[in-house]
Amino acid sequence: MSALIVSYAEVTGDEMVLAQVREIFFESSTKKDFKDASEKEAFFEKYLGYYLRNHPELAWVAQEDKVLGYVVAVADSQDDVLYKIQPHLKTFEKYFGQYPAHLHINCHVESRGKGVGGQLVKALEKQLKTMNIQGLHIMTGADALNKKFYQKLGFDFEAIEFFHDSPILFMGKSL
Ligand SMILES: CC(C)(COP(=O)(O)OP(=O)(O)OC[C@H]1O[C@@H](n2cnc3c(N)ncnc32)[C@H](O)[C@@H]1OP(=O)(O)O)[C@@H](O)C(=O)NCCC(=O)NCCS
Repeated sequence: MSALIVSYAEVTGDEMVLAQVREIFFESSTKKDFKDASEKEAFFEKYLGYYLRNHPELAWVAQEDKVLGYVVAVADSQDDVLYKIQPHLKTFEKYFGQYPAHLHINCHVESRGKGVGGQLVKALEKQLKTMNIQGLHIMTGADALNKKFYQKLGFDFEAIEFFHDSPILFMGKSL
């Protein structure tokens, strides 16, 4: 499937796009239960809202008649505001020199396995290279199935660190 990959900077303010991205985010998340609306919003802010608002130039959506998937990123993970909202980041600080950028990606459940995720990551990598960013990383569950997706895209550095007794897999790719 060859979807249209659009920079989020071009569609910022389009409420329909934001609503569809938001829906994909909550559908894809393993966390389903929230004690109230404000906890749900904080979760959205942590992994998506912060990125869309502060780094729209590093966010991409795949579209056909609706949004099929999105990727968001920061170019430099060493960021005190991010450390505050995502305290686990600090555990991996020693790898940020080599792999400074990080991303979060999700595709609509009906659009998975069709190449959309790969297209989104490639669009992001192209942009990061124009910014002279040397490397990119992701974090996922130590036994997550999506590990294969990143391996195929060339994320060939792997390290596991523990945060609050839970293992987190860090995967890095040099650009
Ligand atoms: C992970 C995800 C973003 C990948 O996007 P995608 O569009 O499905 O992936 P692509 O079709 O571009 O896949 C590229 C390759 O990775 C493999 N792959 C993708 N997702 C995989 C998965 N969950 N398990 C194993 N392999 C996977 C595909 O088999 C494909 O290999 P191929 O080219 O040899 O066929 C998407 O499947 C998704 O949103 N999954 C659910 C949420 C999630 O895991 N998000 C990432 C959180 S870290």
